[in-house]
Amino acid sequence: MTGDRAALKGCSTGGGAGLRRRPFDPAAVRRDFPILQQQVRGKPLVYLDNAATTQKPLAVVQAISDYYLRDNANIHRGVHLLSERATAAYEDARRAVQAFINAREAREVIFVRGTTEGINLVAQSLVRQGLAPGDEIVVSVLEHHSNFVPWKMAAEATGARLRVVPITDAGELRLDEYERLLSPRTRLVALGHVSNALGTVNPAAEIVRLAHARGIPVLLDGAQAVAHRPVDVQALDCDFYAFSGHKLYGPTGIGVLYGKAARLDALPPWQGGGDMISSVTLEQVDYNTLPAKFEAGTPNIAGAIGLAAAIRYLAGLDLQAACASEDALVEYAVERLAALPAVRVVGRPAERAGIVSFVVENVHPHDVGTILDGEGVAVRAGHHCCQPLMHRLGLDATARASFAFYNTREDVDRLADGLGRVREVFG
Ligand SMILES: Cc1ncc(COP(=O)(O)O)c(C=O)c1O
Repeated sequence: MTGDRAALKGCSTGGGAGLRRRPFDPAAVRRDFPILQQQVRGKPLVYLDNAATTQKPLAVVQAISDYYLRDNANIHRGVHLLSERATAAYEDARRAVQAFINAREAREVIFVRGTTEGINLVAQSLVRQGLAPGDEIVVSVLEHHSNFVPWKMAAEATGARLRVVPITDAGELRLDEYERLLSPRTRLVALGHVSNALGTVNPAAEIVRLAHARGIPVLLDGAQAVAHRPVDVQALDCDFYAFSGHKLYGPTGIGVLYGKAARLDALPPWQGGGDMISSVTLEQVDYNTLPAKFEAGTPNIAGAIGLAAAIRYLAGLDLQAACASEDALVEYAVERLAALPAVRVVGRPAERAGIVSFVVENVHPHDVGTILDGEGVAVRAGHHCCQPLMHRLGLDATARASFAFYNTREDVDRLADGLGRVREVFG
């Protein structure tokens, strides 16, 4: 785990070098998120659906609005001032992401729609590169469908095979089985960094080390990690890392696929169109260099600018304290829920980030979610896009409370009170 610690060390972001950090104060931070100040169903909102999407600080909303009010133009192709400004802001955003995840070079940051698109990009490029019968992709039973279905599709298209790492009853990856599944046939390991259903933090650096010892590249699905742990892609040494802006206090429709330059250079593009070419004749198309090769068409310019604003906002916080506060809150939530009669916390990983899944005896999670909503508490209920995991756990669904640094102990208490109400309603 030494490498993991190194990858997670510091709890600071590079994106806002030079910014002064505010001491962390959840009450003050909440004021940066206007949406949290409202009442729902006649009660103050308790937002515990952050794994689905986080709320956005005013700084992000303002950055997007400023862009549209002042600078809106298409990028890279224009010779006029607005296009210059929009291009500069978009490429600045790439550098902000580069610093945030400590990528070696800005061209290793590919803007995509989100985690899903980043993973599909790698999967479809691998298909075009010649994934073949007999090749294997290693995934796990913990994966979100976004890190399972694209590989299933790639396998179906090529005759390649998925190998699936099992988990323990606590919800942790079986590393012994993982190691056993790695073979000369393995073309790629594609695993989540943090489970969106159970909150399990996987030993990402160890996963990478074991694969690299056999010359196998690794893609990490970082959708649920980036908002809860500082991510250093060089320390992790992963080959690809995908995440979504909207789970990192940024806008929807923007995300990042990080890839080591050599890996991305070796992959063919998966979408064709404007910007991804260097020259086109009727006979031949020559592709552009990184990152343009993988950014066909007009990108989500405002989204990239909004994501950079989120990263800069985070860089202005004492993230070490924010992470510590959130981890303490998650621990408190596990304790409170586990102490409630008829409530069972699902999954007991040794290291957990941001997420607590639970079930209430004899009450469907959708009913739990609906009653909690009536109490002003927003949680998610369902299979969390993890049907293979639900099957492994012998469940159809769970209710899930997921946390951000703006949540408080009062939020957890309101959740626990709401679960009391669930028991009253269902007797
Ligand atoms: C672990 C994980 N991977 C991938 C995704 C897909 O993210 P998006 O829908 O933003 O592409 C999610 C979304 O919940 C997730 O939690």
